[in-house]
Amino acid sequence: MSKGQFKVRKDFLPFSPPFIGSDEIAAVVDTLKSGWITTGPKVNRFEEEFAEFLGAPAALAVNSATSALAIALAVYGIGPGDEVITTPMTFCSTAHVIEQAGAMPVMVDVEPDTLNIDANQVRSSITEKTRAILPVHLYGHPCEMDQLHEMALRFNLNIIEDAAHALSASYKGRSIGGQGSTAAFSFYATKNITTGEGGMLTGDTDFIRQARVWSLHGMSGDVHRRNSKEGTWKYDVILPGFKSNMTDIQAAIGLHQLRRLPSFQARRREIVRRYNSAFANIEQLQLPAEGDEISSAWHLYVIRLNLDAIDIDRDLFIEELRKMNVGTSVHFIPLHFHSHFQKKYGYSESDFPVASSNFNRIITLPLHPGLADEDVDYVTAAVKYLLDHHSNV
Ligand SMILES: Cc1ncc(COP(=O)(O)O)c(C=O)c1O
Repeated sequence: MSKGQFKVRKDFLPFSPPFIGSDEIAAVVDTLKSGWITTGPKVNRFEEEFAEFLGAPAALAVNSATSALAIALAVYGIGPGDEVITTPMTFCSTAHVIEQAGAMPVMVDVEPDTLNIDANQVRSSITEKTRAILPVHLYGHPCEMDQLHEMALRFNLNIIEDAAHALSASYKGRSIGGQGSTAAFSFYATKNITTGEGGMLTGDTDFIRQARVWSLHGMSGDVHRRNSKEGTWKYDVILPGFKSNMTDIQAAIGLHQLRRLPSFQARRREIVRRYNSAFANIEQLQLPAEGDEISSAWHLYVIRLNLDAIDIDRDLFIEELRKMNVGTSVHFIPLHFHSHFQKKYGYSESDFPVASSNFNRIITLPLHPGLADEDVDYVTAAVKYLLDHHSNV
């Protein structure tokens, strides 16, 4: 890469805009005209198709992954006095739902290669109060599930997977969220598929039956059936449930997004290959890993700067990219860097050394099916230009 003047593109390249087509728009209009806009037949169909896609016995559509996680904790009866082991390298809602249930989030450090929860460290954090492990498949790369399942079996713990990033990922040939595992998916605007806001909880049939009651005020029976000709106005409230149901407007979008998911994923993989080959053998960079027997959902493409090899820090690097019209993000500010977790649990930034030391190095580059090859080449050229100009080596 020459050190000459870099030609900055005219338009800004966002890191992950939604990819909505005319089918989704038409389906929303149809739903609005249909006379039924809240939870109804389209939600049912979305649940069925989603479960079939993953090979899950059942699925429950909700209004966010956060709600899906909260409902899973409620179904397992996790509450005051209980501990749930999770990772600091996640979005805050992973831990908030544990706190809102009245339980205590116990964080353990992450693996250096994937930044996923370190299964070896989970073992030493299990106490007689531990009720569940809440692993996060960070960036779409599955955690070491065999080790976690083995510990869960031995210590009689539930596993609730935060699969917000992991739609279409697999571990040793098994789909994340398939085969009755309890997993929470997100359809937030930046995710691999979107419904604007939304989420899905997977699990075995009995678990999802209970989850469904928790998701809608703890009422027996569903609202669509109650309002149909065959339905009845009578209902019984059997527990203090949430208001977390998905609407048919969202499901109308989700059904089309789900059908397009295989092509979205194929494009994501092509982009990842293009990034990987452009960035291969650059001393100032560490590239995202994909483990053996793993298929990542490639939700995010996160590079790590080797800070010893450059004279610029991560924040300035992001600022330079922004000036070059490249949108980026940082996933995530580790939980123990936030004042809430520091004040409440006494954590400090020197805890969890792997998460802490990697936080200063990570940058999420644009990755979404709408990126053209020229866009990817522009991003790689911009990153290489900056690395070249700020090289120490
Ligand atoms: C790892 C992780 N968990 C949970 C969530 C929450 O998802 P939602 O916005 O659907 O509640 C997110 C959202 O970005 C996330 O990144």
